[in-house]
Amino acid sequence: MTAQPRHDHSVTDRSLLSSKAYGTGQHLAARQSLYQWQTPSHDLPGIVVDELAVVRGAVADVGCGNGRFVARLREDRPDLNVLPMDVSHGILCAIPGAVVADVQQLPIADGLLGAVLALHMLYHVEDQAQAVRELGRVLAPGGMAIVSTNSHADKRELEHLWRQAAGDVLGIQEGPARVQLSARFTLEDAPAILGRVFGEIRTIPLPGVIEVTDAEPVVAHLASYEAWADKMGVPFLETIERARERVDETIRAEGVFRVRCLGGILVCKGPKQ
Ligand SMILES: C[S@@+](CC[C@H](N)C(=O)[O-])C[C@H]1O[C@@H](n2cnc3c(N)ncnc32)[C@H](O)[C@@H]1O
Repeated sequence: MTAQPRHDHSVTDRSLLSSKAYGTGQHLAARQSLYQWQTPSHDLPGIVVDELAVVRGAVADVGCGNGRFVARLREDRPDLNVLPMDVSHGILCAIPGAVVADVQQLPIADGLLGAVLALHMLYHVEDQAQAVRELGRVLAPGGMAIVSTNSHADKRELEHLWRQAAGDVLGIQEGPARVQLSARFTLEDAPAILGRVFGEIRTIPLPGVIEVTDAEPVVAHLASYEAWADKMGVPFLETIERARERVDETIRAEGVFRVRCLGGILVCKGPKQ
């Protein structure tokens, strides 16, 4: 049976996002940290800085999370006026100048920005078409939107691991798929959704392989979905502990546990004609 991604309204539930999911940067940091074991390693903030080389003036990072991109932009491009924005108040507390704002209704005048970033966040948005209209509305002529997300094929081994572990806990062959965040806005779907507003969309695919010789980073990644624990249809902590045992078994047998990744960045310019 093919694993079906689980679409759940809680993925866009603003009160859950701003409390359990992103009330602090803890879970986001656990998810980001798995990539330190990826080969090749992709410097996402560095790619964004390079893409913004010709941009001047103000740049909003919408859904900026723990401010990883904001910090790098302020470091490398002190000439830009970087505006950090997010719906989750708590995650913004250490980011100077950050504003609580929803991408579906940005508190920014028409045509004000040289660029707008929406990185790994549009899958959390209820009305993606409205969000993309907002990204287009706030850009000055010639401005660009930089968006990122993951492929539907990203980290399949983790989805498989989860279903196997959930199956063990439930005493069945394969348990239910876990909630998949990027399934609501995949790298494959993104060009059509962004293409309703932007005339030119360039995708930068970022493939890689994560290899770990210790189960802990994988366990931390799975545990970072705690906000959605009661949506998984299986006892969450028990499933994670079973997943840890399965990863340990693979490492003992093969020396390594591998996860193939496929993320990507979409650079969007020009209004649709
Ligand atoms: C997976 S994190 C990505 C953070 C950061 N952009 C990065 O790539 O490291 C998603 C972020 O989007 C924020 N978010 C979710 N829905 C939003 C919305 N409608 N408007 C603005 N931010 C939103 C969340 O609070 C969270 O901080």
